[in-house]
Amino acid sequence: MKNKLLALRDVALLRLEQLDLEAWRVEYLGKKGELATVLRGMATLSAEERPVIGLVANEVRADLEEAFVARKAELDSRQAALREQAETIDVTLAGRTPYLGAEHPLRKVIRRIEDIFIGFGFTVEDGPEVELDRYNFEALNLPKDHPARDMQDTFYLTEEILLRTHTSPVQARTLERRCPETPIRIVVPGRVYRRDDDDATHSHAFMQIEALVVDHGIRMSDLKGILLQFARDLFGADQEIRLRPSFFPFTEPSAEMDIRCIYCHGDGCSTCKHTGWIEILGCGMVHPHVLEAGGYDTSSLTGFAIGMGVERIAMLSYQVEDIRQFYLNDVRLLEQFATLTR
Ligand code: DAH
Repeated sequence: MKNKLLALRDVALLRLEQLDLEAWRVEYLGKKGELATVLRGMATLSAEERPVIGLVANEVRADLEEAFVARKAELDSRQAALREQAETIDVTLAGRTPYLGAEHPLRKVIRRIEDIFIGFGFTVEDGPEVELDRYNFEALNLPKDHPARDMQDTFYLTEEILLRTHTSPVQARTLERRCPETPIRIVVPGRVYRRDDDDATHSHAFMQIEALVVDHGIRMSDLKGILLQFARDLFGADQEIRLRPSFFPFTEPSAEMDIRCIYCHGDGCSTCKHTGWIEILGCGMVHPHVLEAGGYDTSSLTGFAIGMGVERIAMLSYQVEDIRQFYLNDVRLLEQFATLTR
């Protein structure tokens, strides 16, 4: 029995390093553990043997408990050291530069144009990209079956619901919502959709900016003044513009604005196709039908509207040759705009 106890001690001490500490305690010192099991055999011992074995048993228990306490202390201190190491900040370590994102070039152009119009006293509005036929066409003087609807190939979701083909429906929405409050001076950036095949100059989804003014006595000369100042704020103080007659169902009269070619200044180059001018936006006096659809009294109120494509202006400003570049999100391209201030 004595040998059994001594062998038990040797094995237990050996396994102390291998077992989980609590598992070891249960296995060797627990109520149903190895030591308790051997000690239950003492009942069969003679009166002379019992105190001798009892002494050995106590020694073995004391040894195991001592080893347990020592092992626990060792593990605790090792864990504390690890924790301390993890919490220590090495102030000599070189800093890591955080990766900074950059404003997308289209967003940059939108912000610049918004800022110019805000300077004129306009406020920024937006509207839904999933739009009703009523606002996208009908209220803009484009009744069903009007041939001018073909100017914009449309993604229809249902017969009445579509992806807006331009930002002009926000004109109709704002007129309806604000009526009869005046004046209106809003600028509206946003994404629009057309059933176009993507190529270097077309994208099925692109950005437009719309502007709308409605007030007493607004005249074409007000539009022209705003356009000239806008062009000069955007492209430089001596920028020239010209207006050409055009057609849009929601304006009458309508015009398109060209800027003097910002590359050749009129001498002729491939960008302006040797005309010296670059078309930049559509505009006109708000058609009375549009004002009426919004509930406005056309006998006392007039207005003008402007619509432009953001990608086109961005391509000109930053000399990007393919519109798809804006949507590839190639970090190498985007990073070039990180340091640009305008
Ligand atoms: N909505 C027109 C388009 O997408 C652009 C436009 C032209 C808007 C003239 C206007 C405008 O507000 O007056 O082609």
